[in-house]
Amino acid sequence: MLAGLSATPKSLSSKYFYDDEGSRLFQRIMKLPEYYLTGCENEIFAEQADDIYRSFANDGGGFDLIELGAGDGTKTAVLIDHFLKRHADISYSPIDISQEALDELTAKFKAEFPSLKMNALNGDYFKILDSLRYVGGRRKVLLFLGSNIGNFNREQSVDFFRQLRAVMNDNDLLFVGFDLQKDPHVIVAAYDDLQGVTAKFNLNLLTRINRELGGHFDPEKFIHYANYRPIEGSARSFLISREEQTVRIDALSREFHFAQWEPIFMEISQKYSLSFIAWLAEESGFSIDQNFFDGRRYYCDSLWSVNSGRR
Ligand code: AVJ
Repeated sequence: MLAGLSATPKSLSSKYFYDDEGSRLFQRIMKLPEYYLTGCENEIFAEQADDIYRSFANDGGGFDLIELGAGDGTKTAVLIDHFLKRHADISYSPIDISQEALDELTAKFKAEFPSLKMNALNGDYFKILDSLRYVGGRRKVLLFLGSNIGNFNREQSVDFFRQLRAVMNDNDLLFVGFDLQKDPHVIVAAYDDLQGVTAKFNLNLLTRINRELGGHFDPEKFIHYANYRPIEGSARSFLISREEQTVRIDALSREFHFAQWEPIFMEISQKYSLSFIAWLAEESGFSIDQNFFDGRRYYCDSLWSVNSGRR
């Protein structure tokens, strides 16, 4: 927080959005008419579950699903339901930084899929993955859905995928959701919804700073602004100070000055071309097995296998 708010331009990291209230607001975002991403991935899972199953299961063999940042697991439930109906020998390990989210997911899945072997893991992706590396002898399928990768810039994405690559065995798979480039009006609307839920989602981080760090932000003195840059393919959101103001954060023993209309950069949500996806896979030591698209080609779930021999 100190680094971000002391810099020019000011920024806050989107990874802090997800306290309890932030997680609830994101669940609401996923239900907004403008936020097409969730519906697209749902459509892919609902309509192509069998193709997905056949590409996960090598010759009907069992596999272990490991989901990074599982959230409420709603979309994944569609896949798991299908896999279980096919009597697939699977297990499911959702990993999330939020224990509360995991508890909810676990209760829901236990009720819906009593026969599913589940192992919910709370904590940091990489520490947990490392410990999973030598467990069992069978295929792991890592899931990183929802275009969560979009919060990372190019370097961070390659870095992230390389770290995953490093804890994967040769037969393992990585299944990643990417939101594709499309009509910019559609994208901007998804990050600037009419009901103002996305605005609340961004402003909630100021409320979180007030509560957890003794901040003195008045959220009313900021507006939410989102834009899309078609050249880079990136949506960005900002909170913009409506007036000149100084805000103290007790835990940092500091005051931060805002000029009128000064922005805080909050989030990048990258939109992908197929060539960018191919470049990311190649650059981080993977090959693309198969791409799954929704009917409008708004979104792509991309299945990657490990390029053995190089790291
Ligand atoms: C959870 C990172 C995929 O960038 O689309 C939704 C978060 N931010 N609306 C996204 C988000 C504003 C979301 N991801």
